[in-house]
Amino acid sequence: MQRILRNIGFEADLIRRASVCAYEAEMNVVMYGGKGEMVLQVNTDEIVLQVSDDGKGIEDIEAAFREGFSTALPEFREMGFGAGMGLPNIRKNADLLNVRSEPGKGTQLKIHFRLSEGA
Ligand SMILES: Nc1ncnc2c1ncn2[C@@H]1O[C@H](COP(=O)(O)OP(=O)(O)O)[C@@H](O)[C@H]1O
Ligand SMILES: [Mg+2]
Repeated sequence: MQRILRNIGFEADLIRRASVCAYEAEMNVVMYGGKGEMVLQVNTDEIVLQVSDDGKGIEDIEAAFREGFSTALPEFREMGFGAGMGLPNIRKNADLLNVRSEPGKGTQLKIHFRLSEGA
């Protein structure tokens, strides 16, 4: 994804922010999401990154966004994951974030990045 955005010619900071979000969202799909899909949409005024999965869903979205909150399994913690900073970091790096999640059904993140002139 980084390469795609670089080839289009977006500025480094935007690519960095989008990459952080994509990485964190992808890790969450791996750890909690089951089967997932990522869609990158480049519009004239914004980039939209959609990450959806059909995993167990998020019980309490507000809690999940708290820094340090994590339900990561020991096997992932041993690899250094589970700091509970993924969703807070996505929120910080996005211009707009929509979260839809249904316990038992899955989760969808819609992450927006505004494109300014010359971005
Ligand atoms: N796609 C997802 N499906 C189900 N639960 C999720 C998903 N993404 C995040 N969560 C829940 O939100 C918590 C916080 O996520 P995050 O901030 O990325 O921290 P971490 O991944 O380190 O636990 C996770 O521990 C998990 O309980
Ligand atoms: Mg995470």
